[in-house]
Amino acid sequence: MYFCIMKIIIINGPNLNLLGKREPEIYGSQTFEEFFQTLKLKYTEVEISYFQSNIEGEIIDKLHQVGFDYDGIILNAAAYTHTSVGIGDAVKGIETPVVELHISNVHAREEFRHQSFIAPVAKGVLFGFGLKGYDLAIQSFL
Ligand code: DQA
Repeated sequence: MYFCIMKIIIINGPNLNLLGKREPEIYGSQTFEEFFQTLKLKYTEVEISYFQSNIEGEIIDKLHQVGFDYDGIILNAAAYTHTSVGIGDAVKGIETPVVELHISNVHAREEFRHQSFIAPVAKGVLFGFGLKGYDLAIQSFL
């Protein structure tokens, strides 16, 4: 029997490579790599991959690369969420549905974090649930 496994990618933007060290009172003290292993073990029926970049163009390239093939994209574009017309246009231009995600409650923070170039073209938005948000985002695709 032919069985097609679901493919989901998590794309994390700038400074998220510092999770665990960076402002732990906001983002927690777990590294993303550590958390990612627990996600993979929890969802063995899903092929989950992970990409992180601090470079806007690399995030756009990755969206183009996976955006016609994968079943779901979980995108935490971090600070670029609030500034990048290019990432918003990339999300609009691809076929794979994108869930925008933020670890912190961006609406309880500075005003500039309330703006998103991704939200209007995303399937949905999750924020304020810590790393658990990535788990909830995977469930939204199942
Ligand atoms: C963030 C929120 C952004 O405003 C911020 O620039 C980040 C992380 C979050 O996950 O809460 O770097 O996307």
